[in-house]
Amino acid sequence: MTASSFSIVVAMDKERGIGLNGKLPWKLSGDMRFFRELTTGSGHNAVLMGRKTWDSLPAAFKPLPKRLNGVLSRNRTDTDGTHKLWSSLKEAVSELGRDENIQEIFVIGGAQIYSEALTLPECQRIYLTAIDAAYSCDTFFPEIPPGFHESTVSDSVEEQGIRYCFRLLERASQ
Ligand SMILES: NC(=O)c1ccc[n+]([C@@H]2O[C@H](COP(=O)([O-])OP(=O)(O)OC[C@H]3O[C@@H](n4cnc5c(N)ncnc54)[C@H](OP(=O)(O)O)[C@@H]3O)[C@@H](O)[C@H]2O)c1
Repeated sequence: MTASSFSIVVAMDKERGIGLNGKLPWKLSGDMRFFRELTTGSGHNAVLMGRKTWDSLPAAFKPLPKRLNGVLSRNRTDTDGTHKLWSSLKEAVSELGRDENIQEIFVIGGAQIYSEALTLPECQRIYLTAIDAAYSCDTFFPEIPPGFHESTVSDSVEEQGIRYCFRLLERASQ
């Protein structure tokens, strides 16, 4: 795996919902653990997120530890040193891809950033937590373009009476 490609990580409900009132509509500790372990890896990865997702992170999780935190904004130019700022996803991926200290790049939302990420050929994998419930969300994951196929799916997990599973979709090689 090279860092010139990247993966999307997303949890969505059965209506493709991913967010409500600027936050995650659910609290599923098994999914949070999956997200933390996947994106942290051995401690040399980068996570890229939109400015609204960055703003929504609880103070206790900000920046996400042991990962380079990258934030996308067309307006912000100042950072307090806890994260890097880019005004273009393509540039962020390209710069991180050239950084030999970065092993893997994960695009972690929200909807605006997922939409652009799905158009880039460097987007090779989608780690999708599929939640079998509906939360009346106001933010949605875009339709997945043709070319991705499901390579693995976990057994279903149940937490607080909610069932979910972990799916991995990969882009078919051309
Ligand atoms: N379920 C999940 O897995 C998951 C994951 C992440 C987030 N979420 C949820 O998703 C919601 C937030 O998503 P969102 O779509 O509203 O916001 P978002 O994608 O997190 O952030 C949008 C912001 O990113 C910047 N931006 C967007 N496109 C850009 C581009 N092409 N280049 C540079 N900067 C760009 C802009 O920042 P400026 O306005 O500063 O210019 C824009 O306002 C929240 O509810 C959050 O909890 C869910």
